[in-house]
This record gives sequence, structure tokens and C-alpha cells, in this order.
Amino acid sequence: MLKITILYGAIRTGRLSIRAARAIETALKATGKAEVTFIDIKDYNLPVMQLRLKEDPAPLKEVVLIGEMLENADGIVFVTPEYNNSYSGALKNTIDYYTKEWYHKPMGVVCGSSGKQGGINASNLLQLLILAINGYAMPTKLLVPELDKSLDENGVPLNEFMAKNLTKFADEFIWFTEAIANQKKATSKR
Ligand SMILES: Cc1cc2nc3c(=O)[nH]c(=O)nc-3n(C[C@H](O)[C@H](O)[C@H](O)COP(=O)(O)O)c2cc1C
Repeated sequence: MLKITILYGAIRTGRLSIRAARAIETALKATGKAEVTFIDIKDYNLPVMQLRLKEDPAPLKEVVLIGEMLENADGIVFVTPEYNNSYSGALKNTIDYYTKEWYHKPMGVVCGSSGKQGGINASNLLQLLILAINGYAMPTKLLVPELDKSLDENGVPLNEFMAKNLTKFADEFIWFTEAIANQKKATSKR
């Protein structure tokens, strides 16, 4: 089984993008090939980053815990709403705490918005951010337009298009993660 960690980065009261996070969690589990760990940043109340984990002599236990869940992952899926044409500040703040936890990890991007573009601007910027943290960005991403019409409260797709895209993204992310995990095993790279 592959270990996949979802890092979901909206903390707004009434957030709709939780639907996208739940939907991809379900789709990844449905592949039968992944153990999924779900990190909801809202549960951790991280302060604005002042010291990265590796530089902090007395890190918060929440920061350590998230770091372990990231470090243990074979692959990471980021889920974010689009705010002001970018990913959420809460997600970026969390990402900034970590360094080696990201290295050489396959990473996927899921974005959602209330409009029709599904967070395309945020997704493009998030793929660039993945390169900056030394991750491997999967080219295919999942965009969820009109969050309230595409997915119900539990993340169940409300139309055929969304259902197909979810399955396609999950299958591709498993393939991408497995390929890199196998190569790491073969060469003992971390
Ligand atoms: C601060 C803020 C900025 C936003 N900027 C954008 C934007 O640039 N593009 C967009 O499509 N939607 C934007 N939205 C609307 C979000 O897409 C909408 O709130 C959606 O439900 C996803 O965010 P949520 O998970 O917080 O609900 C913005 C929302 C907020 C709160």
C-alpha cells in the first residue's frame, strides 16, 4: 500500500473546499492502493511561521506531528481554495515550516472555487511552489468549479464530469507515486 497524505489548507468558517478534500480522500481510498492520512490545517491552529521546524529548538508539538505525517508519505496531495488568484495563505504558512519533509516527493494539486474556473490560477501557482520545495509536481491537476454544485457536503460528486475527473486524478496520482516510490526503493534514495 502506498502512503498518501492529503494536506488541506482552508480554515475559513463555512469553507466549501472541504468538499474537494473529502472527495479526493474517498477517490484515493477507492483505488485500493493507498492508505490515506488527512491533515486538516484548521485542526492545528499553527501560528504564522517564525522559525522553520529544522531551526526551532523547541517546536510546537503540532508542527512536529504534521512534519511526521508529511515525512512518512510516499506522495502528498495539496487541496486548496483559490483566494485572490492564488492558494490559501494558511496552506502556504504550513508549507513554509518544512524543508526535507518535501524532498523528492510526488505531489498532486487539487483546487476549488465557487466560480466556473475551478481555481486554475491557484493551481498553476501551487505547481510552481512544488518545484520550489523540491517536490515532483504531477502535471495533471484536479480543478473543482462551482464547489456547491459539483460536490455534496460529503464530497460525493453531483455530476458525471466531476465523478470521472476524480477517478482519473486519483488513478494517475497512484501511478505517479508508485513509479517514484519504486525507483526510490531500487536506488535507496529518499
Ligand atoms: C479571500 C477570498 C478570496 C477569493 N478569491 C477568489 C479568486 O481569486 N478566484 C475565485 O475563483 N474565487 C475566489 N474566492 C471565492 C472562493 O472560490 C470560494 O470561497 C470557494 O467556496 C472556495 O473557498 P472556501 O473553501 O473558503 O469556501 C475567494 C474567497 C475568499 C474568501
